[in-house]
Amino acid sequence: MVQLRELQLGDVFALPGIYTPETVRYLGRPPLEAAEAILRVRQALAPAAGPPRDHVLGITADGELIGIATLHQRSADTAAVSYLLRPDTWNRGYATLAVRHLLDLARCLGISRVTARHHPDNPASGRVLTKAGFVPTGEHAGFPTYTADLP
Ligand SMILES: CC(C)(COP(=O)(O)OP(=O)(O)OC[C@H]1O[C@@H](n2cnc3c(N)ncnc32)[C@H](O)[C@@H]1OP(=O)(O)O)[C@@H](O)C(=O)NCCC(=O)NCCS
Repeated sequence: MVQLRELQLGDVFALPGIYTPETVRYLGRPPLEAAEAILRVRQALAPAAGPPRDHVLGITADGELIGIATLHQRSADTAAVSYLLRPDTWNRGYATLAVRHLLDLARCLGISRVTARHHPDNPASGRVLTKAGFVPTGEHAGFPTYTADLP
């Protein structure tokens, strides 16, 4: 079962195995080192009051932390999503389920429009978005863009 949960201090040790060179290839950032992992978890545990506010959540499969999903709340009713999973868990439908959970969270927060984009060489991410209910809206700076309007 795929679930989202708050990050915990102990997740510091799992994060470098999630932000690997393969995972961050299209994200425009380097792999995550231990020092940044500590900072990331500390920030997630003490989020800004916001919005804007990032809801940074762990993705678990059968209780094991396998990825990170974030709802980037921009305003009272708009947000964007991002997500990444450990490479050995890809292509099992986990990211799609995680993004659906993020949309459920967005609904609970009263958010009515969620946007997303992905690197043009990363079509798997676009597939995740359309499976989760996003609609393609074009592109921005070469990145395909998507929107999900929430009822
Ligand atoms: C993109 C990513 C999140 C997908 O996670 P995942 O758990 O494998 O996603 P899912 O299994 O839910 O769905 C993947 C879909 O992409 C498809 N896919 C995989 N590789 C593909 C490719 N090269 N081209 C087109 N589709 C591809 C799969 O077949 C699947 O679609 P299907 O169910 O119709 O068969 C994961 O690969 C990842 O973490 N990548 C690195 C970080 C990243 O790119 N994050 C997104 C930032 S916008």
